[in-house]
Amino acid sequence: MSTAVCIFQGGPRNASYTMPRLSEMDRQHQILFDLGNRLHEAMLLGKGKEILGPILAQVKTHMSAHCAHEEKLMKDTHYREYREHIQEHEELANAARFLSERFQCGETTMTIELTLFLSSSVKQHILTTDRRLTEYLNTR
Ligand SMILES: [Fe+2]
Ligand SMILES: [Fe+2]
Repeated sequence: MSTAVCIFQGGPRNASYTMPRLSEMDRQHQILFDLGNRLHEAMLLGKGKEILGPILAQVKTHMSAHCAHEEKLMKDTHYREYREHIQEHEELANAARFLSERFQCGETTMTIELTLFLSSSVKQHILTTDRRLTEYLNTR
């Protein structure tokens, strides 16, 4: 992937996201970044609409599995900010569900919206709320 079009950087390629001892969380975040990069790259080639459906479906599936993974980690370790963190997950899931429902109703013009959702809302959650969780888990 060309770095010129890469708007989602994460995982092992970006030290600011590196979460030693939490490689599964890192790997799952990287999948979301990769989906965002694939969509953005397709958009630049004028093919965003072609892969919107499959990307949207994968975002929903991965986000759901990933949030469940984090929620189990939080529960198992009696994380203090559990409720606030889950609230954010629910907001992200609702946003993804809203996009997906619109797509299923025949709307195909939310390619930019999905890119923004991944590059702002999801990324922001990973950089702030998830980061606090990983700092906590690293002390366990
Ligand atoms: Fe996360
Ligand atoms: Fe999270």
